[in-house]
Amino acid sequence: MNRRKFLYATAGLGAAGLAATAYQGTSFSKVTPGKTLQMPPLLDATQSQSFELQAMAGSTDFTGLGNAPTIGFNQSYLGPTLRVKKGAVSAKISNAINEPVTVHWHGLLIPGEQDGGPHQPIAPGESWSPELTISQPPATAWYHTHIHERTAVQVHAGLAGVMQISDGRDDERGLPNAYGVDDLMLVLQDRRFDENGQMIYMQNMMDVMHGFTGDTMVVNGQVGAVATVPKGIIRLRLLNGSNARIYSLAMSDSREMHLVATDGGYLPAPIALKQVQLAPGERVEVLVDFSNGNDVSLVSGADINQGPGGMMGRFQQLRNFFNSSEFTVIPFAVDERIMVTHKKLPDTLDGKTPSLTGLVSTTRRLSLDMGMGPGMMMRGMMGSGMTDQMAISGQSFDMNRIDIKAKRGVLERWIIRSDMLAHPFHIHGALFQVVKENGQKPRPEYSGWKDTVLVEQETELLVKFGQIASSKKPFMFHCHILEHEDAGMMGQFTVA
Ligand code: C2O
Ligand code: CU
Ligand code: CU
Repeated sequence: MNRRKFLYATAGLGAAGLAATAYQGTSFSKVTPGKTLQMPPLLDATQSQSFELQAMAGSTDFTGLGNAPTIGFNQSYLGPTLRVKKGAVSAKISNAINEPVTVHWHGLLIPGEQDGGPHQPIAPGESWSPELTISQPPATAWYHTHIHERTAVQVHAGLAGVMQISDGRDDERGLPNAYGVDDLMLVLQDRRFDENGQMIYMQNMMDVMHGFTGDTMVVNGQVGAVATVPKGIIRLRLLNGSNARIYSLAMSDSREMHLVATDGGYLPAPIALKQVQLAPGERVEVLVDFSNGNDVSLVSGADINQGPGGMMGRFQQLRNFFNSSEFTVIPFAVDERIMVTHKKLPDTLDGKTPSLTGLVSTTRRLSLDMGMGPGMMMRGMMGSGMTDQMAISGQSFDMNRIDIKAKRGVLERWIIRSDMLAHPFHIHGALFQVVKENGQKPRPEYSGWKDTVLVEQETELLVKFGQIASSKKPFMFHCHILEHEDAGMMGQFTVA
């Protein structure tokens, strides 16, 4: 197996000003011999259309060095893959940890009442039983806690999981769908561990400003595992469940990945790509051909927000340098004993390209602000956090302020600008079409329906609001770098 080293780089901020330093971190993905990647347990609710989740404390030995305290849903870290279909789904979420949590259904098109945002905390010992009215096409969505100012720390500890909306028709589409066999769910996270296997969170000022990034790759809550695949076409469903890291994904031998779905579900036809960027909150589904039998790895370039390119203005040459510092996300081993069911790629799928035409009722310009005043730098260095320092269009998140009032069924043009870093921008309860990125036609990964988009400079969206949200249970829009969200880079809107 081709073992690659992860070159970890960070920008050091000296008291005298900005000074860039790069250092080599620990080995990013050391393979543990014989450790096979496990899927999150599948909780198939397509028959019962009901499920229960319990947020619970536990401990997890990620590294073999010792048990780390973690939180999960129905288990010690992360939660089951919930599979549901169209119709009403009865959920019951109980909270067995000692602080309030919420469960937000990221990617579900449901009303604000069911959305599970910061206005719907579940107190310790309590439960919440929303009825989810699912009406959207198949998609890979996810769920995670969204508690006011504690989302980053709780997701870091493990409060997240996958939700698949299925219509049971993937055989007709020619798509692999045997969970964990030729249809692999891969939840990508990065973490830092100490010598006792404890997770280290938020150590320095860069964590505060850039959001937390780690030096160790964790896939489905596992470190150092190898994914076993049959010698055929495999479907990889990728979720970036990291707090802040942006992955630039590729196969180590540069073979193509055939993009079949993005946040909102299937594309009209596969798109062959050598590289896919995946920012926090985003999902892609790709088909990869393993029929030559060679072992290969999914690799990533460095996070475009890290290193001298991050703070100092992401210059292309620096970006190229960091893209060359590749690390392994997950290695694959082909096992010829596993029966191959898919040998060719589908020509077409039944997704639709969004082409939102019609009357645009409103154009809004939003800026994702990092409020880099000297005061904030000082506070960052003193480690006192920066609640209220991050903002959208100059306003830090306020639970009691509605920022936008949208109308149901109406189209709005949102022009989003990023300040300092690239920010993954997410809107609850709606899907959008990416119209332009920096004045250009968007990248191919953004041709489908999206709910989260990486804004590198300026990105133009056409948003269609189809779900109701009242001022009591409004929807959120925010940066999905969770530390930015918690520090105020979030707003709320109603849909009437
Ligand atoms: Cu995935 Cu408001 O979040
Ligand atoms: Cu969401
Ligand atoms: Cu951000």
